[in-house]
Amino acid sequence: MRPDHGFNHPTASDITPREVFLARREWLLRSALLGTGLATWAGREALAQTAGPGKLAKLPGARSAVAGANVMDKPTPYDDVSQYNNYYEFGTDKADPARTAHTLKTRPWTVQVEGEVKRPGTYGIDDLLRLSPMEERIYRMRCVEGWSMVIPWVGYSLADLIRRAEPTGNAKYVQFVTLADKAQMPGLRSGVLDWPYVEGLRIDEAMHPLTLLAFGLYGEVLPNQNGAPVRLVVPWKYGFKSAKSIVKIRFVEKQPASSWEKANAQEYGFYSNVNPKVDHPRWSQATERRIGEGGLFTPKRPTQMFNGYEAQVGQLYAGMDLKKFY
Ligand code: MTE
Repeated sequence: MRPDHGFNHPTASDITPREVFLARREWLLRSALLGTGLATWAGREALAQTAGPGKLAKLPGARSAVAGANVMDKPTPYDDVSQYNNYYEFGTDKADPARTAHTLKTRPWTVQVEGEVKRPGTYGIDDLLRLSPMEERIYRMRCVEGWSMVIPWVGYSLADLIRRAEPTGNAKYVQFVTLADKAQMPGLRSGVLDWPYVEGLRIDEAMHPLTLLAFGLYGEVLPNQNGAPVRLVVPWKYGFKSAKSIVKIRFVEKQPASSWEKANAQEYGFYSNVNPKVDHPRWSQATERRIGEGGLFTPKRPTQMFNGYEAQVGQLYAGMDLKKFY
């Protein structure tokens, strides 16, 4: 049995109201800017689109020096980033998480580091926040459903945490286990996925400097619906690899299970690298629609190999048949 995971292409009614809303918001922001003469990190154009969400606790980060960590594409407006989400623990509709994830309690919060490591341990969220300097990284994100966003994340390389844990020689993979609490998450009543949501990476993928442990976006702590208080961001893979609200990081010898692979191995593989040449069984992956950009008649963008991060990550897959290891 294959449930409809809500992986549908958006309809006209989905798009138009957001564009109207965005145009009005942009006009208001531009008017405000003319009055203040403000300048900012991403320049005037980006500021008009993205000026401070101002809703949550501040979490600034210095601009990252990691190669490829700051794309020049215009960031997706905050309202789209925080209101068009996949977080099935809070419902399968894109609008559900923003409406229902206020019940997620993000403090106290601990992340257990366990398995094939010399220094296992349990980190409180505040210790995890202080473990390494916060960086801002503007990543392209590509969802398996055919849409994309550009998000200014705040966090640090997962490698910083992994090095502290000192993986043993048996640590070939890393599994990420996320929160599954019926009391906080209405979506767990549905059997759409096998809870908890789990994901995995090969150890070299997890250690790659672009792999981000994210605590915030747009200079503030993560909105609950984006995976507060801590999530993974792997920008060259389809969005579902980026597990939200992580409670366990487990180092293992064998390739671990991941939720979408468990749900439908024909359609979702372990690697899930963005690849325009390998179609999803039910649709092409050659193009994408950038959320918040243009309207219904705006041509789609061509999808780039490894989501445009080929120079940084291509060598991780040298010699592999990417049609087989999809
Ligand atoms: N993590 C958990 N725990 N539960 C989920 O349903 N959805 C995934 C991923 N991480 C998901 C998750 C999918 S399908 C995508 S596309 C991204 O989160 C969406 O992240 P965003 O809402 O911040 O854009």
